[in-house]
Amino acid sequence: MTQPPKNLQTIESHILDLQELHPSASGEFTGLLNDITFASKVISREVRKAGLVDILGETGDENVQGEVVQKLDDYANNVFMRCLGTKGQVSIMGSEEVAEPIFPDTSQGSGTYIVVFDPLDGSSNIDVNVSVGTIFGIWKKKNRLANVGPEDVLQPGRELVAAGYVIYGSSTMFVYSAGHGVHGFTLDPSIGEFLLSHENIKTPFRSCIYSVNEAYEPKWSPEVREVLRQLKYGRDTTSTRKDAPGKGAGMTARYIGSLVSDFHRNLLKGGVYLYPPTLEKTEGKLRLMCEAAPLAYIVENAGGYASDGHQSILDITPTTLHQRVPLYIGSRDDVLWIEKMIAEGESSI
Ligand code: AHG
Ligand code: MN
Ligand code: MN
Repeated sequence: MTQPPKNLQTIESHILDLQELHPSASGEFTGLLNDITFASKVISREVRKAGLVDILGETGDENVQGEVVQKLDDYANNVFMRCLGTKGQVSIMGSEEVAEPIFPDTSQGSGTYIVVFDPLDGSSNIDVNVSVGTIFGIWKKKNRLANVGPEDVLQPGRELVAAGYVIYGSSTMFVYSAGHGVHGFTLDPSIGEFLLSHENIKTPFRSCIYSVNEAYEPKWSPEVREVLRQLKYGRDTTSTRKDAPGKGAGMTARYIGSLVSDFHRNLLKGGVYLYPPTLEKTEGKLRLMCEAAPLAYIVENAGGYASDGHQSILDITPTTLHQRVPLYIGSRDDVLWIEKMIAEGESSI
């Protein structure tokens, strides 16, 4: 007879355990995380359906009920907006898909929390059945008693109280941190529950995987080109990395083109993801608040590091909700080395 898995902890019970660490907690934060896990289950269900529909080519713009099929990123955005903030615990939501911050009704709660999210990351991959995801970050409003304005959303990653991502891959996984380690849960579709599968994730200090869209190489700065040359051919003799596979031998490349998926693989296996500035996109492509900062919070809680090439992503105070930022994120030693290479390259100009 098949034995049940030893660990059957649901994400809800894990989040409740977290609440017990804070005896004065009101339960609003617990409720918010539960709202997010619920929203991600709804999105997961739709992602699975959309993949099948596209593969079988049974529908164009209409689903089987004759309703218009929304683009999945719009759908995911609507799910998040409907599921979060209904209990009045969220005073501001910021979405990659919505130009301005949203102010939900807080009459039923304290409005303590600010949530910024990328409802569907890597959405260009959805039609070809490649993993996509969701990214979110949770901040607290600065002044508990004051009303909030649009500027209250502009907080650095260092102030995050929790962050996470969902990956709709070969299985659906929910990974989050609220400052007490990084924990991963896998959705068991037969019971509709996220079960603890990856407790206290630690990312390797050094890695042998780099992830970057190398088609942009002609548009990179000389420093970034040199970083990639050494990642590929091995670091030069001044490298402090004596025992890593990259010493004297190049790393290997993996690039899916869905940030969440590339990040997740590198978090578990070790690796460094790069989205450098280009001639046209001098701030890179990725968004600070809904992509870079939440993943930086996760990676730092797992022992890694994230930088814009000059400083920790977590130390950047945004000036706009949709601000973009260059991103180097993953194994700590590799990202620190990239920062050093960029600084040396720039100072020699
Ligand atoms: P989104 O789908 O939320 O707009 O994000 C897409 C991002 C990210 O997921 C991915 O890593 C990156 O775009 C890929 O960009 P390139 O096609 O320029 O490599
Ligand atoms: Mn994205
Ligand atoms: Mn998106």
